[in-house]
Amino acid sequence: MEQVRTKAVQPRDQEVLAKYAHHFRIIEEELENTLYSKVPAIKKMGRHSLLGQGKRLRPLLFVLSCNLFGNESEHIYKLSVVFEYIHTASLLHDDVLDNAEIRRKKPSANTLWGNHAAVLEGDFLYSKAFLSAVNLANLEFFKKLTRTTTIMAEGQVLELLHTGDWNLDTRTYFNIIIAKTAVLISAACACGGIISEADDRDVARLENFGMNMGIAFQLVDDILDYTSTEKVFGKPVGKDLREGKVTLPMIYTLEDMKSMDREKVLSLLTSIAEDEDAHKEVVELVRANGALERVRSEAERYVEKAAEQLAPFPDTDAKYNLLELNQYIVGRSF
Ligand code: IPE
Ligand code: IPE
Ligand code: MG
Ligand code: MG
Ligand code: MG
Repeated sequence: MEQVRTKAVQPRDQEVLAKYAHHFRIIEEELENTLYSKVPAIKKMGRHSLLGQGKRLRPLLFVLSCNLFGNESEHIYKLSVVFEYIHTASLLHDDVLDNAEIRRKKPSANTLWGNHAAVLEGDFLYSKAFLSAVNLANLEFFKKLTRTTTIMAEGQVLELLHTGDWNLDTRTYFNIIIAKTAVLISAACACGGIISEADDRDVARLENFGMNMGIAFQLVDDILDYTSTEKVFGKPVGKDLREGKVTLPMIYTLEDMKSMDREKVLSLLTSIAEDEDAHKEVVELVRANGALERVRSEAERYVEKAAEQLAPFPDTDAKYNLLELNQYIVGRSF
């Protein structure tokens, strides 16, 4: 049953993304050509993590945001990969934090080379990204980028501090996802404006567009952790709860419960990491509660808010493409 459903959904993802094949081809070339190190192990781990099955959403958003201002120079592709380097670095660190064995349909770097090497490889990719930005962009771009990575680190630490906090509130949850995920998507969009010499108002619009889209993006990622399969998603599923990561579907489910039921679920949650039956039962409760649909509606709301930000721009292909990608976020299956 599950397979039939995912098969029906997947072509839609591919259809949307296939339209951007020419952008992806140049982005892939840039990723291929810029990853070098005199330490062979660094190159090997970097290639493993960076190349392959990533959606390349952040570099694509940067390119399209540049296009929005008529900026179609070759130079923008060189800069676009900065966002993929940063994203991949954050994934390397994230998989250590989440004890994740699979990433982008392959064994994660921490699985193959251990946590120490994975963290250092992440540091290498962050540094490479900053070096490219210093060499290729302006100070405003660089400031935006470094502010972004600072906030991302804060977001991951905030989430770490709330590991196993089954009483996590909605506000803190949103603070976490804004910091760990949405700010980078927002920066990719805003930097497209910055490098294309857009005026401050337009940069702010793109920043808000990316922020709302980024929130929706993480909301959907958190839904897919409940509904997808490892094969389609390319990374572990059902992992958030097992690792003590409380996300919005669980928060909504707990909120809805009468105190006795809530106590029961809380006791199941304490053994969820090692007890497969407890995990199944909690996941079933979340599904039955309708929380996943509620979170999806919430994601749709953010997608709408994102789209509103682009209303003042003239109707160009770039605007249409940004709106289409924004819409794709909620329907995606991986
Ligand atoms: C995964 O991001 C991490 C999150 C912010 C949810 P993506 O879903 O964009 O991952 P890749 O780059 O396609 O692998
Ligand atoms: C996003 O959170 C992490 C980053 C922004 C790096 P997740 O931990 O949910 O990301 P996935 O699901 O492992 O890709
Ligand atoms: Mg993770
Ligand atoms: Mg994580
Ligand atoms: Mg996730």
